[in-house]
Amino acid sequence: MFWSRSKGVVGLDIGSSAIKLVELKERKGAEYSLERVGIEPLSPEAIVDGSIMDSSLVVDAIQKLTDETGAKAANFATSVSGHSVIIKKIQVPSMPPEELDESIQWEAEQYIPFDINDVRLDYVILSEGDLGRDTMEVLLVAVKRDKVNDYVSVISQCGKSPAIVDLDAFAVQNAYEINYDINPESVVALVNMGAAVTTINVLARGTSVFWRDISFGGNQFREALQREYNLSFDQAERAKRGEQVEGCSPAEARTVLDQVSEEMAAEIQKTFDFFAATADSEAVSELVLSGGCAQTPNLLPILQERFGVRAELMNPLRRIHFKESDFDSQWLHSIAPMLAVSIGLGVRKVGD
Ligand SMILES: Nc1ncnc2c1ncn2[C@@H]1O[C@H](COP(=O)(O)OP(=O)(O)OP(=O)(O)O)[C@@H](O)[C@H]1O
Ligand SMILES: [Mg+2]
Repeated sequence: MFWSRSKGVVGLDIGSSAIKLVELKERKGAEYSLERVGIEPLSPEAIVDGSIMDSSLVVDAIQKLTDETGAKAANFATSVSGHSVIIKKIQVPSMPPEELDESIQWEAEQYIPFDINDVRLDYVILSEGDLGRDTMEVLLVAVKRDKVNDYVSVISQCGKSPAIVDLDAFAVQNAYEINYDINPESVVALVNMGAAVTTINVLARGTSVFWRDISFGGNQFREALQREYNLSFDQAERAKRGEQVEGCSPAEARTVLDQVSEEMAAEIQKTFDFFAATADSEAVSELVLSGGCAQTPNLLPILQERFGVRAELMNPLRRIHFKESDFDSQWLHSIAPMLAVSIGLGVRKVGD
């Protein structure tokens, strides 16, 4: 007897500061167990401003990760973020799905700030036109073709199949949904703070209603420390984590970090203001932070204070089973916030 094994994937988050790999196994009842996990730092010249500048560095890091973790699945899911990604809800005239398939390119053109021939388009119909309504709502996703090709190519070069290219914002949402109960009363902003990009995805009653990628993250904190105290890249990276380094005490680092946290809060505020002005939803009532930069000392209380709402750090492993003996749990705990995207990718299936 042959069981048709559902096609699980390896979740591979190609971040600009580090690549994260997660392989999960689905159990009964939509539960998952952690099979393999790894993180491999990338040198800062490998990915700059969201573009892969040195693909051999990226390929080497992926290869190392797959070897070290022993990742099994041949199919990989990865994701992209940043300014070459556009997510928009648009209204189009009501029409049958086949017709939309043909006209989406034309409908999308007016919403995409790039040449339509340079992007890959995807869409989901959110509301079929009700009787009597002449428009329907469509979620439009456009990503620069070059960007997708680059991310797909580094995976192929490792001999793996790049089966799924998702968006960071959606992957973080997946990770949240498998680990937390949705509170129907609350409007939750999922804020994934990486090194170069902060991705915001607002969920109202469990449905995603707003997205925005901001070019602001851990790099801004590091650069501010480097400027202020004349630190090297590595020194500033350690100072950011609250470590004592030569020429900058944790207290000195804190004053700079707090200033940058305020700048980060102001950036997020702009997004929330825009959200409040455009969406027919209540204001954000809860912040759930992920990404390495979310661990910056004192950032969470600063955001909490500024927005007057509860803020917490997401634990994307909250409901994922694993054998304590298989993993160093202290290490897992320390990298957990950085795993949100890779875990959200790891639950994807080929063809879903
Ligand atoms: N404990 C910590 N305290 C402060 N900052 C941290 C900590 N751990 C990691 N970081 C910072 O988080 C960032 C890395 O996070 P993450 O892995 O989520 O980013 P990335 O996916 O590589 O970046 P991006 O998605 O923006 O390309 C780096 O800027 C790093 O310095
Ligand atoms: Mg990232």
